[in-house]
Amino acid sequence: MKQIKIGLLGFGTIGAGVVKLLKENSSLISEKTGAQLSLKTIADLDITTDRGVSTDGIKLTTNADEVLSDPEISVVIELIGGYEPARTFALKAIANGKHVVTANKALLAVHGQEIYAAAKASGVEVLFEAAVGGGIPVLSAIKGNMAANRFSTVLGIVNGTCNYILTRMTQEGADFTEVLKSAQEFGYAEADPTFDIEGVDTAHKLCLLLSLCFGTKVDLKDIYCEGITSVSAEDVDFAKSFGYRIKLLAIGKMDDGQIEARVHPTMIPSDYPLADVHGVFNAIRLTGDFVGPVMFYGRGAGMDATASAVIGDVVDLCRNMGAGISRRCAPLGYVDEKVGTLAIKPMGEIVSKYYIRFQAFDRPGVLARIAGSLGAHGISIASMVQSARSTDIVPIVIMTHEAREEDIRTALGEIDAFDVIRAKSTFIRIEDNLE
Ligand code: HSE
Repeated sequence: MKQIKIGLLGFGTIGAGVVKLLKENSSLISEKTGAQLSLKTIADLDITTDRGVSTDGIKLTTNADEVLSDPEISVVIELIGGYEPARTFALKAIANGKHVVTANKALLAVHGQEIYAAAKASGVEVLFEAAVGGGIPVLSAIKGNMAANRFSTVLGIVNGTCNYILTRMTQEGADFTEVLKSAQEFGYAEADPTFDIEGVDTAHKLCLLLSLCFGTKVDLKDIYCEGITSVSAEDVDFAKSFGYRIKLLAIGKMDDGQIEARVHPTMIPSDYPLADVHGVFNAIRLTGDFVGPVMFYGRGAGMDATASAVIGDVVDLCRNMGAGISRRCAPLGYVDEKVGTLAIKPMGEIVSKYYIRFQAFDRPGVLARIAGSLGAHGISIASMVQSARSTDIVPIVIMTHEAREEDIRTALGEIDAFDVIRAKSTFIRIEDNLE
């Protein structure tokens, strides 16, 4: 039986999952591919800490070159994460004629074009299913069986850490910091958890989803990105009372040749399937012109689920190698010369419904002034609530009909300057008209 030798760079949580999966399921994988996968070498700066998995028969080294320059190794799995040295190592593996499998969304969101071009020049593949949605095979589906569709929307919950935090805040009224700590202990969070909670990890993943769905290069800086750090227990409670839940969504929409690309806390109706995605689970909902809406759901982070996607890519490579073919599908699913650069719609021009919470003195005429200013900017109120008074300052919550973001920001700037307003108002966009 043909042996495929693999080298692994990075022996963290997912690396340990890869070792475990290959130990437990290697004969099953051989039955499915006709090849024997053999993990020859693992390189990591720390090769002494016990990862709870057996490394018998695997060479451990602190020198990445023992993977990158080993002529026997044909597949390099990059699980270091971050930009460097992951970029340098990936490029070296490619230059040495090795296929690269990676879970590194940060690397691809920023250096993807350079890496794809290098892979094309070397005639090798770069596969990255694990980079979006952990174990969920969404990228393969977009590039594969859904390829015949024009997509209008791609939207989802793609950060397990944020979803875990928001779920526990919603279900238990739990404290943000304490919940983040347990997400880190479970190994869901990035090495730098600010990437999770500030929405950056979600933006990295949205960047890849947009490229695959719309055949476009996306500059990460053009994606509007707002994390969950300012979501308060009060907003979570108000959302519930209006029949909504707050989720951190990655949103991509095709709009007249421009794309909307945004990451922010979003209120969605509590009867949407997306609202029932709890904890570390992720879900991605795509709308194609022929298939209609399709939703993928599964574990978005964690050792075993992510290892499943990583080895799924290796299985794909084995099958291609078995058939003597390579680069059957380009990394983004579009032939390289057809990957363009679509314009991103400026955030001020997006149209959405909004939840707005004001902190105001409970005095005659306050509501009239707020409503007057919203009305003057063409913002129509759909409903409002003012909580019972326990102090002189009360929250006034207004749900709007569809409005332009720029109008909302201008009106709030005006209202926040009123002498009866006690704190900067907060707003959360609402997504409740999914096709
Ligand atoms: N930190 C990421 C998350 C891991 O929480 O979803 C998976 O990319």
